[in-house]
Amino acid sequence: MSKVYICTAIPYVNGNPHIGHAMDYLLADTYARYHRLKGDEVRFQVGTDEHGNKVFSTAQKNHIPVEEYVQENSDKFREFIKRLNISYTDFVRTTDPEHVRSVQEVWKKLEPHIYSAEYDGWYCEGCERFVTQKEYEENEGCCPDHQKPYQKLSEHNYYLRISDFKERIRSAIESGEMRITPEFRKQEMLRLLEDAPDISISRPRKQLTWGVPVPGDDDQVMYVWVDALSNYISVLGYPDSDDMKEFWPAAAQFVGKDILRFHAITWPAILLGIGLDLPKNLVVHGHVLSNGQKMSKSLGNVIDPMEVLNRKGLPAFRYFFLRHIDSFADSDFTNEKFENAYNNELANDLGNLVQRLATLCKKNDVAGVQSELKLTSEFCALMDKFEFSKALDLVWGKIQQLNKQIDEQKPWELAKNGESERVQEVLRDLERGLVDTAQLLTVFLPETAQQIIDIFTAKAVVPPAQPLFPKN
Ligand code: MSP
Repeated sequence: MSKVYICTAIPYVNGNPHIGHAMDYLLADTYARYHRLKGDEVRFQVGTDEHGNKVFSTAQKNHIPVEEYVQENSDKFREFIKRLNISYTDFVRTTDPEHVRSVQEVWKKLEPHIYSAEYDGWYCEGCERFVTQKEYEENEGCCPDHQKPYQKLSEHNYYLRISDFKERIRSAIESGEMRITPEFRKQEMLRLLEDAPDISISRPRKQLTWGVPVPGDDDQVMYVWVDALSNYISVLGYPDSDDMKEFWPAAAQFVGKDILRFHAITWPAILLGIGLDLPKNLVVHGHVLSNGQKMSKSLGNVIDPMEVLNRKGLPAFRYFFLRHIDSFADSDFTNEKFENAYNNELANDLGNLVQRLATLCKKNDVAGVQSELKLTSEFCALMDKFEFSKALDLVWGKIQQLNKQIDEQKPWELAKNGESERVQEVLRDLERGLVDTAQLLTVFLPETAQQIIDIFTAKAVVPPAQPLFPKN
């Protein structure tokens, strides 16, 4: 049994959770459930990123005191995470006093690598990111992600000397000490690292009031990313805690492609600067698109995750994201694809199988079976490589195989011919196959899998009153 620490990006609380946010949670949850199944002890962090100008100015626009605004929105994320049945163990808010104290410790430890200088350049508030002149020119002065002109900044800042760590970070990425999945993202980061500049890590208080004060300088507030990235260790009680010793470094951190640069360069620089090991894996997912396009209010194609959840239920939601949204590339969410997956796979393949088999068992007085966990090496190999949708394909192959088996062996005909011993044998074999498959399914669809296990391990098998996935 090992101790495994799993982290997710913490969203800004300047709006409601959207369907894209589900990606980090579902991937991390699947990985966490897999490790628990293997008997590992799992710590699993989620949380909210509450400081910075972006959050502050949205609160102001809404005429709500910022403390109230962040509380309200942080609660919405907490609810969303619960609604997704995410098996997290720790929820961190960057406004938590323990977090603030911890980040200030990070800063103090980093001081040998910090210097002060003038910043004269560009900033994107949407990304909360300092932008180089080269990038400014390439994008003609406008952030492609946020469609807003970059702001001109001329101010005094503290800088983190990234150059102190570049070679060490490069070798960690190249050697796989900090593995970046998928491979093409690793190459992207190695290229970016080549001319990664030192980074500004503070803002003058007159420019940014909503943030963590820089220790020893009342005129400066920490840059929101230094504050936010530190959540991964503050939640374990950095600097002094047994949990840090036991759970750090993280086994895997799940992030979206847009924020990989902060996790592959800034975060390792901070960790190396304070003498900590690097996370073992950075797992990078693409973006969820709506009808092939980035979701945006102006295009009117934003998908409300709550609406989908309420309409189709959690298992269907988890299933679609984990099997049909590519884990690594950008992927399209459309209602049509969702409905097809629901009807053809969940209702026809799985729901029908459970109903048919349970009905046959009941009719022929076949009791449930004992179950023993069988994790196959093929399944584990895919899970260890974070190929979750392929692992789910594998599970689905087993479900289809069981459907084929039932069709070929025709237990109802055996019963009609009075071959009762053979009926028992065939049905028990199918039950065993289904329970074994459901064990693997628990990492993806915990509620459905448990329901199946309960049905087919009970003394008397009772078909569910309602099909597991009723068709509309
Ligand atoms: N606050 C920062 C993260 C700090 S982590 C120390 C942030 N917040 S965010 O709200 O913009 O994004 C949170 C997560 O959601 C990121 O992993 C991001 O990539 C992901 N996604 C945001 N939009 C997404 C999609 N449309 N699709 C998939 N993931 C998306 O960045």
